Amino acid sequence: PKDGSDDHYSLMQWAARYYQQQLRQHSEKERVIQYLKGRGLDGETVQKFGIGFAPPGWDTLMGQKRGDNRAIHLLTECGMLIEKEGSNRKYDRFRDRLMFPILDRRGRVIAFGGRVLGEGTPKYLNSPETPIFHKSHELYGLYQVRQAHRSPERVLVVEGYMDVVALGQHGIDYAVASLGTSTTADHIQLLMRTAQSEVVCCYDGDRAGRDAAWRALETAMPLLKSGKALKFMFLPDGEDPDSLVQQEGKTAFEARIQAAMPLSDYLFGHLREQADLSSNEGKARFIAEIKPLIEQISDDVLQETLLQRLETELGWGARKHFAQPKRTVGQRP
Ligand code: GTP
Ligand code: MN
Ligand code: MN
Ligand code: MN
Ligand code: MN
Repeated sequence: PKDGSDDHYSLMQWAARYYQQQLRQHSEKERVIQYLKGRGLDGETVQKFGIGFAPPGWDTLMGQKRGDNRAIHLLTECGMLIEKEGSNRKYDRFRDRLMFPILDRRGRVIAFGGRVLGEGTPKYLNSPETPIFHKSHELYGLYQVRQAHRSPERVLVVEGYMDVVALGQHGIDYAVASLGTSTTADHIQLLMRTAQSEVVCCYDGDRAGRDAAWRALETAMPLLKSGKALKFMFLPDGEDPDSLVQQEGKTAFEARIQAAMPLSDYLFGHLREQADLSSNEGKARFIAEIKPLIEQISDDVLQETLLQRLETELGWGARKHFAQPKRTVGQRP
């Protein structure tokens, strides 16, 4: 895909300002402000995340650039305008939505997430892939985390925009969200580089959230390094970080983070739920499941630690099912 230009970035910045201005000026702003209040967000948080309002109407954003063909063209490339099939008529992608600007690591606006104000589908509308937005390696909130902490000890990974923003509102200013996709290998690498000591995955307390946690573990296996922890938090059924921090506040939520499950506990715990270790069949099944995961680990120390735990938990003999850990020393050309 072709590269983005300075003009793409400056138009996205302009769009973000326009939406913020609409939140202050539009005739229907009261409805939006009530929605924000209902979600427990104050002006300072709205400001910090640059949240805005895309007014209803098919051409409110486009109307600002009427006659400026180059701007219209660039806004279309940025996914802000949609070209009507079979004609050259265009219209605004985001209409009557709460707008969350997505910033890159330098603080430039590269995309938006837009939420309906209340009920409606789709609940969130996101920018498509564009010359300046590649969603598999961007994380919502990462810029703000880096503004608050040059190198944060811990980064929390959540599912949604609202989770990041609500946590921020409660002083938990080290959360990021993967953008409606599952957490990719790119994300995990970026997170492991950013966090000094640990990355904590904290997905919603539902089936989708638990599946996302296991997928994140599988994705992370080859990327793990001893000395940096990957941990997992499991929330009560029906809760997400937003709903929970609003209910119980910062201290209680941070106690949950403190008690997050180390990767090895999650790995063994999850597989033990699926295999009865009192039978040989169960043990065989457990080993068949865990073997490919442990073999993917490139960090020798970590791999050794997990193999030792496997011996302890399954009794002697487990290890003979594995190739010896890769030895890097002495194998170099
Ligand atoms: P709230 O209802 O505002 O609290 O949102 P939520 O973040 O709790 O929603 P949910 O847990 O359902 O979704 C988590 C994240 O998935 C959202 O923040 C979005 O990034 C994404 N997502 C949710 N619904 C949609 C959708 O309808 N379309 C798209 N593209 N993404 C969605
Ligand atoms: Mn990029
Ligand atoms: Mn969910
Ligand atoms: Mn949620
Ligand atoms: Mn939510």
